[in-house]
Amino acid sequence: MRELQSACVAVTGGRGFVGSAVVRTLRARGCGNIVQPTRSNCDLLDRDAVASWMHSAQPDIVVHCAAATGGIAWNAANGLAAFRDNMVMSLNLFESAASSGVSHVTHVSTSIAYPADARPPFAEGTLWNGRPGGPTAGYAHAKRLGQVVLELAQQNSTMTAAVVMPANVYGVGARMESERANVVAAMVHRFVEASLHGLERVSCWGTGTPQREFIHVDDVAEGIVLATERIDMPDPINLGTGVPCSIRELAELVAEAAEWKGEIDWDTSKPDGVPRVCCDVQRMKAALGWSPEIQLADGVRSMVQWYQHEVRERT
Ligand SMILES: NC(=O)c1ccc[n+]([C@@H]2O[C@H](COP(=O)([O-])OP(=O)(O)OC[C@H]3O[C@@H](n4cnc5c(N)ncnc54)[C@H](OP(=O)(O)O)[C@@H]3O)[C@@H](O)[C@H]2O)c1
Repeated sequence: MRELQSACVAVTGGRGFVGSAVVRTLRARGCGNIVQPTRSNCDLLDRDAVASWMHSAQPDIVVHCAAATGGIAWNAANGLAAFRDNMVMSLNLFESAASSGVSHVTHVSTSIAYPADARPPFAEGTLWNGRPGGPTAGYAHAKRLGQVVLELAQQNSTMTAAVVMPANVYGVGARMESERANVVAAMVHRFVEASLHGLERVSCWGTGTPQREFIHVDDVAEGIVLATERIDMPDPINLGTGVPCSIRELAELVAEAAEWKGEIDWDTSKPDGVPRVCCDVQRMKAALGWSPEIQLADGVRSMVQWYQHEVRERT
């Protein structure tokens, strides 16, 4: 078990959605020495800036949460940039960590990295059986190659490593801007606005039947910190509930939390995407001795309340 309380822990992307939850979780663990390379003091795309930051900050442990990421539309428009930026960040960071005496790196990857034709539940052993596809392919390729970069960086050092692959993350603090929002954030935005403006109908894409998996940001942060404490090898570990939820059920949960009572129009002219996405969580349970605790209905309710407050503050 890796001691975090007395270590200097660097969290990249520590002001982002997942990274800020990791910082909160580390603080709650009693970790008092957390350093954060931000875009202004250390652009992770700049190799020299990363090396110089690493030299002066001298972290013992690095948790890599920074990413160039967004929703489907953002990925569709920025495939090559998403690949380039995520690759370059991993290369700069992991190479520099290995040569600066960092003792451990945790790489936060994504369940989107599974092959386009993977059969659910996605088991970690099938990660390299095919290519990721669709609009998120650039992002997905780079995130999963981060594991390879980490393995190579480790080769001539004593650095240990962990790689985690979260399912769709939702909760307080999510990116709500339309092009960056994932499906939960987009629905929370739509139903909170519908409730606020008294709309009687809301349109949602597809048939509502596809199933997706969601994990609350506080749970994902706990999984990332546990992996940082307990894991020494960069063999990927899914972070999820293992329980898929249909898009229709999700819409109903969000609508109820937003106290919106109108009709949902399912726009079946829009694509559904793959029928089912969910992760095999056996390795996570065995390796971390842990499972997520927050129920989707509870997490959605607190996210809706947070966003209602944000909207009221803005108006
Ligand atoms: N959200 C999800 O549903 C989800 C699911 C699975 C995996 N993940 C993984 O979780 C991690 C965090 O995602 P997130 O949702 O928290 O994203 P996010 O809210 O967009 O946060 C990303 C962070 O990375 C920072 N960053 C980006 N480019 C940088 C650069 N060149 N130099 C320094 N910092 C840079 C951003 O800083 P700025 O604010 O300055 O841009 C931001 O703080 C990512 O690795 C992602 O792949 C997320």
